[in-house]
This record gives sequence, C-alpha cells and structure tokens, in this order.
Amino acid sequence: MSQTASHIASTKRFAVDPGTSLNGEMIVPGDKSMSHRSIMFGAIATGVTEVTGFLEGEDSLHTLAAFQSMGVHIERGGVGEVTLHGRGVEALTVPENDIYLGNSGTGMRLLTGLLAGMNIPCVLTGDGSLNGRPMRRITNPLTSMGAVISTNDNGTPPLKIAKSGQLTGIEYTCPMASAQVKSAVLLAGLHAQGVTTVHEPAITRDHTERMLRGFGVDVVVDGLTASIKGGQQLQATSLTVPGDISSSAFFLVGAAMTPGSRLTIKGVGMNPSRTGVIDILKLMGADIRIENLRETGGEPVADLQVVGSQLNGIHVPEELVSLAIDEFPALFVAAASASGTTVVTGAEELRVKETDRIQVMADGLRALGADITDMPDGARINGCRLKGGTADSAGDHRTAMSFAMASLISDGPITVLDCANVNTSFPNFARVAAGVGLRIAEVDG
Ligand code: S3P
Repeated sequence: MSQTASHIASTKRFAVDPGTSLNGEMIVPGDKSMSHRSIMFGAIATGVTEVTGFLEGEDSLHTLAAFQSMGVHIERGGVGEVTLHGRGVEALTVPENDIYLGNSGTGMRLLTGLLAGMNIPCVLTGDGSLNGRPMRRITNPLTSMGAVISTNDNGTPPLKIAKSGQLTGIEYTCPMASAQVKSAVLLAGLHAQGVTTVHEPAITRDHTERMLRGFGVDVVVDGLTASIKGGQQLQATSLTVPGDISSSAFFLVGAAMTPGSRLTIKGVGMNPSRTGVIDILKLMGADIRIENLRETGGEPVADLQVVGSQLNGIHVPEELVSLAIDEFPALFVAAASASGTTVVTGAEELRVKETDRIQVMADGLRALGADITDMPDGARINGCRLKGGTADSAGDHRTAMSFAMASLISDGPITVLDCANVNTSFPNFARVAAGVGLRIAEVDG
C-alpha cells in the first residue's frame, strides 16, 4: 500500500456496542514474526521454499515486496500460500528504489541486519510511526561488525546501508530484551567472518534461531546466549506458520474477562518465548485450557479453550514481561476489568513500539472510564466497570483491537479511532470478532 493510500485509510473507526460475550470456535491469522522470517530466509536459501499459513497482513506483505524488489521470484497461491524461489545469497540484486516497510519494526530491523551482512546498498524507510522509532539499537552493534549504516540525526529511519567490506563477528551484550536486535545481529553474523554471539538480558522470542535451524543453519543456544558461525548457506524447506498468539491475545482477554464466554481458538503458536499472556491471565484467575498440543515445523501449536470469569488484579511478575511484550495493550484491558489493582512494571520497552503503548492505553482507557495511572515503566490499574466513549488508538493495531475488546466490560458503546493499521497484523479483524459475538462495525471516515 502506498503511503498516501495508508494515510487515507487511517480514517477507519470501530464502533462497538456492549452487552455481549465471546462464544464459539475461531482461528486467527498466521504469526507475524514467523511470516517475516519465512520470507527473509526462503528468499536467501538455495532451492524452493513453500510457506503455508503466511500472514496476509500489510507488515509481512511489505517484507515480501522488499525481496521481490531485490529480484527474488515469489509466487502466490491461495490465501497464506507463498512459494519462494531462493537462489542463495548471490542472487539478491540491489533494489532500484528505496525499500518501504510500512509500519513494521521487525521488517526494518531484521532486513537491516541481513542486508548489511550481504553488502546490499539500499535505503529502508517506513510510515510516520516506523520513521520515528529508535534504530541505534541495531546500527550500533552492526557498525561495530563493520557495516556502514546511517540514520537521521536522532537515530531514526530512513536507514541508509552503504557498501562495506566483509563484516566480522562480534560478541554483543544486548542492553534491552529485544528479539529484533538479537535477530539483526545474528543475521548479519550469518555473513560475517568468524562467530557472532549475542547475550540477552531476558528471554525473547526465538523464532530466528528455530527457523534458521529448519533451513539447515547451525545456531548454538546456551541459556540467554545465541551464536552463529558466518558463511553458512540456507537450504530451502517447507514450513507452516501457526496462528499468531499475539492476535489470539485480544480474544483470550475478551473471553477470559467476560462471564458467559466460552471460546476455542484453534491452531495457535505456543512457542514458550511467547506464552507469557497465558501465564499472566492465569495468574489473574483466568480459565484457559491448552488442548491438543502438537508440533509443526519446529514450533509448538495448540488449541486454546477459554471460559469467562471475574479476573483478579495482580502485580505482573517482571520475568513474564518479555514473554508477553506485545500483549500488554490487551492485558491492560484485562486489568481494567479485574477486581482489585494490577501493577505492571519493568515494561519500558512498551514506550517504543508502534506507539508509546503505555501512554496510548492509559489515555484511551481513562477516556472510557478506567482508573489507570501510567508510570515510566508500566501502569497501575484499578479495576472498575467502564462507561464507554471514544478511545484513540493513535494508529496502533494492537491498541485499536484492545479498545474494541473493552466494550465487553463497558456499560456504553465504544468508538475506536484510527483503526486502519489493524490490517498490518489482523486483516478482517472486525469480521472475525463479530463471528464470535463482538458487536463491532468497521466504519469509514
Ligand atoms: C518481534 C520482536 C518484538 C515484538 C515485535 C516482533 C520480532 O520487538 O514487539 O512485535 O518478530 O522479532 P522487540 O524486539 O523490539 O521487543
């Protein structure tokens, strides 16, 4: 989608009526993190990679288009089916134009690591949100490997990757818990001389490590340390992307906090570095059952069964924060429904997501009648019944979907502003949500 089109589309709103619960069976779109990686790795592997369950959302489609602009032949089958004709690293060509990655931090940060290591000069840019996000967290370690990358004066995109010599492996201690930083450094390390090692301060999603292994790459993981030896080639493979637990989170929260709900979400990715939302909801008293646990393509998958009840406030254990980092907008809504007080701390990374999610959620929930105090690294939320009103998502897909779920604990209707970016991760969200009982309409203008 062009920048102009995405701006026009950003006038979409959700109009959501209260007085319902969530019931039935549903599936959610493919995992966004895995969808990005499936394109990146399939594109540079040798041979034909078949992907099913690919997320047809704007973020991952921008990554797909980026590789098409670098000469990779990619075929589209039915929904979620992608065939990549990878011809190895050498087959990538320098793109003619700047690469536009829309709203996607994952697309930009992982691609920068990959292209810096491959010595492909180009410019990476994005929408207003992405062009405001911090990139020194990746350019600092990549530069110390020998990459030549420039940012704006304040460390934001566009990122200009220039030709450099062969990169050299480094040992890097990541100052923040970030899978994107870890992945950018490891992907640069794939093409660097020697070994590249990343130490993390906390567990973050390990889809890069798992999926690279699926492509035949030797990635060594020891606790919070991951290492990769440069010069390894990827071999094409076939992979199935499971449902995104982050997209399930809105429905897990919606059903868990609403007595009368009984919902099954099928085929959800259960990677242990992503399941913090389930642990946190269970600590709040939620009735969530994990059924039919199986493994697909090196990743655990399960069906989730949720029965609604009254949740209780908790102090969210800080060790669960990085395991649920994208789910806090939804969890703030769960906290607003809970009896007692919920406290979130150690979550300052929420301030540098697609929006400042602490601020946007605090402002929006307060406008709907919640009792919430924002803090530099989290929030304190006293549960109460919401009255309804208008909440501004500020163009963030996850805050928009979270505010829509707030209707389940509201006395009056809720309008959510600026919802077009829901398409980055969850196309047809309103239709899917209506299918399990949410009284939601998507409105233009
Ligand atoms: C992602 C990592 C996380 C997460 C993002 C996806 C990934 O970002 O918030 O939505 O796919 O690696 P950080 O690495 O910035 O925490």
